[in-house]
Amino acid sequence: MKVAKSSRISGFHALSTEERLARVAGFCDLDKETVAQLRKYGDLDAELANRLIENVIGTISLPVGIATNMKIDGQDVLIPMATEESSVVAAVCNAGRQCYDNGGFATSSTGALMIAQVQLTQISDPQYARLQILEKEEEIKRICDACDPVLLDHGGGLQSIEVRVLTTAAEPMVVLHLVVDVKDAMGANAVNSMAEAVAPFIEQWTGGQVLLRILSNLADRRLARARAVWGLDAIGGVAVRDGIISAYQMAQADPYRATTHNKGIMNGVSAVVLATGNDTRAIEAGAHAYAVKDGQYGSLTHWEVTAQGDLAGSIELPMAVGIIGGATRLHPTAQACLKILAVDSADRLMRIIAAVGLAQNFSALKALATTGIQKGHMALHAQNIAMLAGAQGEEIARVAERMVQSETVRIDVAQQILNKLRQET
Ligand code: MEV
Repeated sequence: MKVAKSSRISGFHALSTEERLARVAGFCDLDKETVAQLRKYGDLDAELANRLIENVIGTISLPVGIATNMKIDGQDVLIPMATEESSVVAAVCNAGRQCYDNGGFATSSTGALMIAQVQLTQISDPQYARLQILEKEEEIKRICDACDPVLLDHGGGLQSIEVRVLTTAAEPMVVLHLVVDVKDAMGANAVNSMAEAVAPFIEQWTGGQVLLRILSNLADRRLARARAVWGLDAIGGVAVRDGIISAYQMAQADPYRATTHNKGIMNGVSAVVLATGNDTRAIEAGAHAYAVKDGQYGSLTHWEVTAQGDLAGSIELPMAVGIIGGATRLHPTAQACLKILAVDSADRLMRIIAAVGLAQNFSALKALATTGIQKGHMALHAQNIAMLAGAQGEEIARVAERMVQSETVRIDVAQQILNKLRQET
């Protein structure tokens, strides 16, 4: 009788990476090649990987590409992007090139204000409790600032508090917002510690019970903005400009389209966030929540015609990224990417990423409104398909080229071309 395998493996976390891999290989009947693949640690060694997360058995590498042609606030910058998707890096290069002579991108931000939420329950008089908490602002500031003297030394710390009363399906709740200037940190740890420190006092002052104490990823006090003008000549004329604007208007009117439109923006944004060791999920969640701020999910960018008839693009989105702490500091490739970017503050990084999001959206909309997206995708996509069909070395480019010429990029076509090519040689 076959004994069922059990995923209840006690002490798995205490094993070495090699021992864990052996256990996984046994459980999943992994062949030697698969185990050897998992043993390749790439740019992050096993020891460091083990410090970042639990139960490590390997790492996974992604290509880091450089977006060229980007001028941001008068400064030329090379931008590292980590992504598995073809055309994403090229899209930023193309958008940057087409607005370079117009001065590139101008950016701004609201600074690095993060929000932590403290949820207060079991309150019969929430409005009364709200005022009780507001009256304690100075004391709350003292408690919060004591959590992070280093942040305070750098000019950060609690900026203000807000208290909201929520009507919920369960009971009224009072929610305290701690608005904290986190300076060059992403800030999650700083604000979460503050929320936890202040919680017992909130209970004491109000008689209620605190449950959640956690940051909000809707970082709408930490907005990054970028704008640029693309000249009509640079983009190919009025029809292209109007096509881009029409594509944008569709996104504004239709959440089905807006989701894809914003996904394209996040192709660029997340690639830089990842390359710098920042939290892609935090940025994604914040961006999509911000896209619904006007009541309906819409575009994170805006596209308009300037008085001169050129194309003006702008973007505004939450951007909770840091340049100190966590993987940004520990991951050697993230450190290298920060060096390439030459950023000296989280604020500069926020603004660069916003510019990349706008550039990405420009190229996607331009392609969609003109030749379609597939043409640009094809060259690299065809190479991927050629590899999947078994092409090796020089065969890859030759199979891909023939597929693109035949305008049919499919694995069966790649296989046919490959067979033919091998017969020819
Ligand atoms: C593909 O990853 C991104 C696009 O779908 C974005 C868009 O449609 O705007 C091309």
